[in-house]
Amino acid sequence: MSKNFRRAGAALFVTALTAASLVACSSEQAPQGGGDGGGESAAASDTIVLGFSQVGAESGWRAANTKSIQDTLTKENGFDLKFSDAQQKQENQIQAIRSYIQQQVDVIAFSPVVETGWDAVLEEAKSAGIPVILTDRAVNSEDDTLYESFIGSDFVEEGKRAGEWAVEQYDGEGYKAVELQGTTGAAPMIDRQQGFADAIAGSDIEMIDSQTGNFTRTEGKQVMEGFLQKYDDIDLVFAHNDDMGLGAIEAIEAAGKVPGKDIKIITVDGVKDGMQALADGKINYIVECNPLLGPDLAEIAKKVVAGEAVEKRIVTQDEAFDQEAAKAALPDRQY
Ligand code: AHR
Repeated sequence: MSKNFRRAGAALFVTALTAASLVACSSEQAPQGGGDGGGESAAASDTIVLGFSQVGAESGWRAANTKSIQDTLTKENGFDLKFSDAQQKQENQIQAIRSYIQQQVDVIAFSPVVETGWDAVLEEAKSAGIPVILTDRAVNSEDDTLYESFIGSDFVEEGKRAGEWAVEQYDGEGYKAVELQGTTGAAPMIDRQQGFADAIAGSDIEMIDSQTGNFTRTEGKQVMEGFLQKYDDIDLVFAHNDDMGLGAIEAIEAAGKVPGKDIKIITVDGVKDGMQALADGKINYIVECNPLLGPDLAEIAKKVVAGEAVEKRIVTQDEAFDQEAAKAALPDRQY
């Protein structure tokens, strides 16, 4: 088990019968695209065919997450990875999952763009005997037998850490804050907003506006431009990810103000560009969200296919950085 993860004490989940039939299914499945002359016929029968539906390519975090998955779920590591990019559209993810069901892959994994609306397609996977692993984002479903395991960060905690730091630094100053939300209905948007709001409740930091920037730099910049036109007294921005924070920096500079000084900025993620802006004094604090989920996904997928017990919830451990910590961490930053 990779070291940088701690396990939540959730119930173990085994479906021995399903798993046994999956092992059979896996060994019957010929590896796809065999034009590379690998000559590994014995090992090939153990290859796990995994269909992964990614949210999109909206942020630096997402690029690092995709790389981690593609670098880990390799042929050498026993996988035949089928990867699709949903371009931040739920209908594309549902279509991809249905196609993986049709192809009778051994395991389906996906990072749901929004929390709700998954039950029907997950029922279809369950009826087909194909286990599902959630990575990064959760689904909001009453029926937790629709997936085997959920690997990812605690987003409420991330928002709470961001808010607690804001209170520590700025309570008593009467700060007016604005929020750049992630994609409407996405787990990290809902949870980070809640965590931050809970943490600043009771302080004199006032959230005066909150709008979605869809986790992208371009939309973060546009929304911040609107905020700056509407309010001339913004003291603090809480951006649900680095990319929107970086967009906000551009808007603040274009408005003739100094990001990190005239307007303080707190973000979530900790990708290289964000960490560089933090080290440069343009961002004030970043709560990390670890995108390197490939190793845990590989391990859980292997266990599920082998019929072994897996934990229902695996919580990724995240750090947090102020400007000095960012300077120290940057040289070794992997993403
Ligand atoms: O779900 C994780 C979030 O999605 C990251 O914080 C954000 O950058 C990404 O787009």
